[in-house]
Amino acid sequence: MNPRRVTRTIRTTAHRLAADVRFRLGGSPGLRRHAQRLLKAAGAGVAYAALLEPVMLETTQVEIVVPDLSPELDGYQIVQLSDLHFNVTAGVGFLRRVVEKANALDADLVALTGDFIALNPLNLERCFAVLSDLRAPDGCWVVRGNHDYKASLLAMQSACRAAGMRLLENQHAVIRPHRRRGGVGEGYHAQARLVLAGVGDIWEGLCLPGQALAGAPADSPTVLLSHNPQVVSILPPSGRVDLVLSGHTHGGQVRPMGRTIRALSDGSGEFVSGLVRAPRAPVYISRGVGTSSLRLRWNCRPEIVLVRLVRP
Ligand SMILES: [Fe+2]
Repeated sequence: MNPRRVTRTIRTTAHRLAADVRFRLGGSPGLRRHAQRLLKAAGAGVAYAALLEPVMLETTQVEIVVPDLSPELDGYQIVQLSDLHFNVTAGVGFLRRVVEKANALDADLVALTGDFIALNPLNLERCFAVLSDLRAPDGCWVVRGNHDYKASLLAMQSACRAAGMRLLENQHAVIRPHRRRGGVGEGYHAQARLVLAGVGDIWEGLCLPGQALAGAPADSPTVLLSHNPQVVSILPPSGRVDLVLSGHTHGGQVRPMGRTIRALSDGSGEFVSGLVRAPRAPVYISRGVGTSSLRLRWNCRPEIVLVRLVRP
């Protein structure tokens, strides 16, 4: 959907509606005043959804209990940013605010779960130029979303490298936490490991969770990054996954009276937003930071997610 066309359609429809109401209620001043008030309220609602809510960032804290989590990793924190969709709404200024807020959370690691751009692949570099200010002792890790396939894999790898980040394309990394947690000695700390795996996008590329997890140590907590939450339906029967971090749906973006419009959440009724306990692994679906073609948010604020891994 072309955003300019959406705005034009909304404006034209409002004008037509107003003209129609004026014509029909011309003879009844009371009713006309009432209708005008309603139209003003509708206009204010659209303005709120187009201009205010898309930049009303909030931080969501999620606690994930990992049964055999070692004491060294108890309280390990991951900041997740998803669906930035660098564009006019989520431009340099807004993304700088996102980076500032994310850095202030002082997490151990930053996970970026795809859709850095919306339509223009040239925005990839601009987006990563801002994201390069993200800081975390265990690094910033990236997977591609469906929109990112408008740029080549090479362009994505180079943008990540320039920003000091690593792209996980159907592969995993074993992370040794840099931070020492309270009451844990030096030797003990050296044992702690976290597996971070990442897959390509299920719509546009090769999404191979089996390959991503192959050879990962089974005694280490494992977090899988996948832009699309539907990955939980194709997880291999074996191989450890303690949490999947996803985005893609933007939480439905426009949720009148808290209800999800299926067409705005890619037809998925089950995986729309928040923590879903899928049979194979829990998946957190971020509402995302930006918006794509429909630049409106209603009852679905953009979010930065702070995940905390804890012992039972
Ligand atoms: Fe997206």
